[in-house]
Amino acid sequence: MSEPNQEPQQPLVSLGFLDSGLLDLGLPEDLLDTVCQQVAAVSSLAELNAVRIKVSGKRSELLKARQALGSLEPEARRQAGKALNAVKAAVEELLATREAELAAAARAEKLVAERLDLTEVTEPLQHGYLHVITQTWQELEDVFVGMGYRVAEGPEIESDWYNFGVLNFPEGHPARDMYDTLYVDYGESGSTLLRTHTSPVQARVMENQEPPIYVVAPGRCFRQDTADATHMPVFHQIEGLVVDRHISLGNLAGTIQAFTVAYFGTSFTSRLRPSYFPFTEPSAEFDIQRPDGTWLELGGCGMVHPNVLTACGIDPEKWQGFAFGFGIDRLALIRFGINDLRELWTNDVRFLEQF
Ligand code: DAH
Repeated sequence: MSEPNQEPQQPLVSLGFLDSGLLDLGLPEDLLDTVCQQVAAVSSLAELNAVRIKVSGKRSELLKARQALGSLEPEARRQAGKALNAVKAAVEELLATREAELAAAARAEKLVAERLDLTEVTEPLQHGYLHVITQTWQELEDVFVGMGYRVAEGPEIESDWYNFGVLNFPEGHPARDMYDTLYVDYGESGSTLLRTHTSPVQARVMENQEPPIYVVAPGRCFRQDTADATHMPVFHQIEGLVVDRHISLGNLAGTIQAFTVAYFGTSFTSRLRPSYFPFTEPSAEFDIQRPDGTWLELGGCGMVHPNVLTACGIDPEKWQGFAFGFGIDRLALIRFGINDLRELWTNDVRFLEQF
């Protein structure tokens, strides 16, 4: 609260108090001094209001004096009236001045109390990064979309039928042993699993779509593997499937070669090596050759087995197809020169933001 204005009040004498007849009206001689002290003593607008009522309200000495004016002779009344007005004006000024002081102080206090810190530290915006695997996944999609393929998806939790049965793995067939399958405790024992490859999407697409079919299906796969530099129990594959008329092994080899050049560059080339998968006949592994002449195995491929076409409701006499599948994670390692697969999963930002 501000200090009240301490200037001494004009003595009542100079307002003509003594000879004005005001004393005759019962107005105390020290009225203004008293008001001055009372006004100075208040510390809030509410207190000031109480003083105002006391000194100029209905029961105030000022009002009583005004009422007493009527008993004076006309000349004395005129003089006393004038003096009374001057006193009243002085009182009002005291009140108004103190009110302004208090209001200013109250406002200053409020400003301090309600002060808001509007300063903001604006650090440069941090952009996120797409994970190395996501980048690779998207680039692969782009390459195949550019070659006219569509992108298909399938569930990560699969039935034994889609993961194996429809793909021509009879029950108990030794080829199933190549896939260290993780089973899900759902339904009949052994009926539900985490897909071990993206190949089941082939069957799901063929069941739902009439040929011609040109699709790729990237996705997450699971196998009971111990994590090391080149294996993870959770990994990614991209599957390719073509079903059309007059499709031959030549189309498959040409497609693999076109992909190799589109993704790795013209200094790379590819080859097919005979292999075995139950769902393709003939089957092959495909390798790429690096500019330094060394070969690297990328994935498997082959002509879609007639049993698979038939199981999916497609007439193998009319339609032929080829399929391929390979790991995305290993490709990311080659592409970015990373030598341990586990680095991709530790989520150390210092490592990931390099790519
Ligand atoms: N699904 C196979 C695996 O994970 C890879 C594969 C081989 C996919 C041949 C194919 C294919 O589409 O035709 O080992």
